[in-house]
Amino acid sequence: MVHLSSIATALAAGLLPQLANAAGLNTAATAKGLDYFGTATDNPELTDNTYMTQLKNTDDFGQLTPGNSMKWDATEPSQNSFSFEKGDAIADLAEANGQKLRCHNLVWYQQLPSWVSGGSWTNETLTEALKNHITKVVTHYKGKCYAWDVVNEALNDDGSYRENVFYQHIGEAYIPIAFEAAAAADSDAKLYYNDYSIEYGGDKANAAEKIVKLVQSYGAKIDGVGLQGHFTVGQTPSKKDLASTLKSYTALGVEVAYTEMDVRMETPSSSDKLSQQSTDYASLVGACAETEGCVGITIWDWTDKYSWVPDTFSGYGDACPWDENYKKKQAYNGILNALGGSSSARKSRKMRRNMITRGN
Ligand code: G3I
Repeated sequence: MVHLSSIATALAAGLLPQLANAAGLNTAATAKGLDYFGTATDNPELTDNTYMTQLKNTDDFGQLTPGNSMKWDATEPSQNSFSFEKGDAIADLAEANGQKLRCHNLVWYQQLPSWVSGGSWTNETLTEALKNHITKVVTHYKGKCYAWDVVNEALNDDGSYRENVFYQHIGEAYIPIAFEAAAAADSDAKLYYNDYSIEYGGDKANAAEKIVKLVQSYGAKIDGVGLQGHFTVGQTPSKKDLASTLKSYTALGVEVAYTEMDVRMETPSSSDKLSQQSTDYASLVGACAETEGCVGITIWDWTDKYSWVPDTFSGYGDACPWDENYKKKQAYNGILNALGGSSSARKSRKMRRNMITRGN
């Protein structure tokens, strides 16, 4: 039985709008007109039963991304010898749970086996190896991937191309060549360019737009730009600025998604930092929710227990919406509220999307 006094307390605490939408992140996201709210995961975590119970909770997660197991070093550790066991474990999990799968990634300068990064290549031999990798991996997962991150992090922060092995031997053409090969192997998967620090305007965002146009100029299929969304507490752009950048990509005729969202802080955490983190998450999620063509949001794992952040940024962590003991942080409510909105706002976004789908 609900006591009036507890409703009054909830009202005073400003909790009722959240309670009205207390349906979970994916449920709220899809009600708002997005296709999914999801999370990255990784094979070592799949033996943790408590973790698995929440990972399978489709009320919160309607989509999974393998954090490592579809990358080049995992899938083709030696030339033309493929290994799909770890990637399959996550693809199978998503399928069993009825979760969409974002497949990650085909071409990246990191986690490349040494036969690629240190090989003696010509333009022709590396192009063949690149096409072979993409063809075999995409064909293996054909029909299972909602989307593929085809090319990941091709840009330096100033917007110039990274001097990776592909750029050195093939030039910028390696990017459209990769998209062509992926489309040939699975014409139904959405093909994305994925990068970080392209979520706000500047040289790098302009260069990401140029990549979309480059692929289009080759007549190759590119469906989306993935904005990784790795941010730091208190240094996350405003919802308005984030939404404006999302729209600069959708204006090119592609969809967008936040693909690796997290908001790290200098540890230890404090109530102020946790509160600001919630605001920052809400800015990101709100920007996607209000942008036509922003199809979904993925967090780069859901619990601090398995976050990549402390290993990479010394002294930083606590970046996920759940803490390392699987307890929801304020950020969870910030995300949920940003996905809440009024039922009329939800309806109008859904109606607009349906009209676009029908070609109106
Ligand atoms: O596989 C080896 C294992 O054999 C070894 O015992 C262990 C010892 O440290 O290392 C294992 O490799 C680690 C690998 O993850 C798999 O767990 C690497 O050291 C570690 O550096 C690697 O980190 C991954 C990172 O990409 C590599 O740059 C993170 O887990 C992964 O979350 C992260 O993901 C990237 C996205 O793909 C692209 N955007 C940025 C994002 C965060 O860095």
